[in-house]
Amino acid sequence: MKAMVIKPGVSKIGAVHWERRLFDSLIPLPDGTSYNAYLVEGKDKVALLDTVDPMTEYILMEQLKDVKKIDYIIAHHAEQDHSGSIPAVLEKYKEAKVVCTPKAKTFLIDLLPIPEDKFITVEDGDTLDLGGKTLKFIHAPWVHWPETMFTYLVEDKILFTCDFLGSHLATSELYATDECKVYDSAKRYYAEIMMPFRNFIEKHLEKIKDLDIEIIAPSHGPVYNNPEFILNAYREWVLDKPKNIVLIPYVTMHGSVKKMVEYLEAALVERGVIVKPFDLSVTDIGEFAMALVDAATVVMATPTVLVGPHPMAVYAAYLTNALKPKVKFISVIGSYNWGSKAVDQITQMFGNLKVEFIPSVYIKGYPKEEDFKALDALAEEIVKRHKEAGIM
Ligand code: FEO
Repeated sequence: MKAMVIKPGVSKIGAVHWERRLFDSLIPLPDGTSYNAYLVEGKDKVALLDTVDPMTEYILMEQLKDVKKIDYIIAHHAEQDHSGSIPAVLEKYKEAKVVCTPKAKTFLIDLLPIPEDKFITVEDGDTLDLGGKTLKFIHAPWVHWPETMFTYLVEDKILFTCDFLGSHLATSELYATDECKVYDSAKRYYAEIMMPFRNFIEKHLEKIKDLDIEIIAPSHGPVYNNPEFILNAYREWVLDKPKNIVLIPYVTMHGSVKKMVEYLEAALVERGVIVKPFDLSVTDIGEFAMALVDAATVVMATPTVLVGPHPMAVYAAYLTNALKPKVKFISVIGSYNWGSKAVDQITQMFGNLKVEFIPSVYIKGYPKEEDFKALDALAEEIVKRHKEAGIM
């Protein structure tokens, strides 16, 4: 990728990683990703904002081939997909200093071979004058590590946000022109990476609300020349009430749980609830995470394996708890034959969430008439709770 000019003296460089399909050996990347770096050239000094994942370091170094000097490397975040190529840049530009928060300095020293005397630490609100280009640093911890910050380029009204507001989307376009596509990618990114830090995100949205922002430049995915698009999306995901949606992540082994899920789905739909079932044996877990952004209720559905829940249901429950969505209600349905502790074990897995538990429907074997009645009663109870919560 060649440098893309955003404004005179401000370019997007970095790497588009089209073929990457997994991040952190965990997060599916159906659309690849990018590691955005930015070059800001003032009259006197030159700053490189973030670097790239070491897997794509050669791309960055090629882009810097004709760049004579870099005075500062601004490290918004110590995670290696942005910081991992700092040592290579320092090797080429011997005079360059790494500018970051005090906490990021300690992280970078732990993670990478960077000598301590290479660092300049900045406090919230500090500025750095490059000569007609003023970088203002905004501490923004917990997006999604504790050391993170943003940079506001005062004269050009560009906010560089690192992971915040980003998307795992490989694209050759500079700007987010296909907003439907970018909305989905950014929502997936928010769900998987940012949602556990919703309270911090809310504060950061408040902190930047009075900034005069023309362009938002994150470190993954396209740049936003319509900042309100992504800011409004975040406001919706972070601040809005959960919606009248029930998720049913389920596993079935011999069809009993599948029958229960189908019955409950129909019972809820006919009562006016939106239902999203996820067959955990085939689902893209990122799709499930995205659905958690909006849902009011999760009904875990599991068969019994070794007297407990199916391991795939355990994974979905663990993930739900770890991602801390706005979910308000949780229930469990499932089937056993000779004994089960599945309900107890699953319900103990949501310690991070402020949720109400709706009594479970756990049946013996294949569902029968009385079991369907119990599922009808569960659907009624969910509707009642949604109405009481004012989301229906
Ligand atoms: Fe894109 Fe948290 O690194």
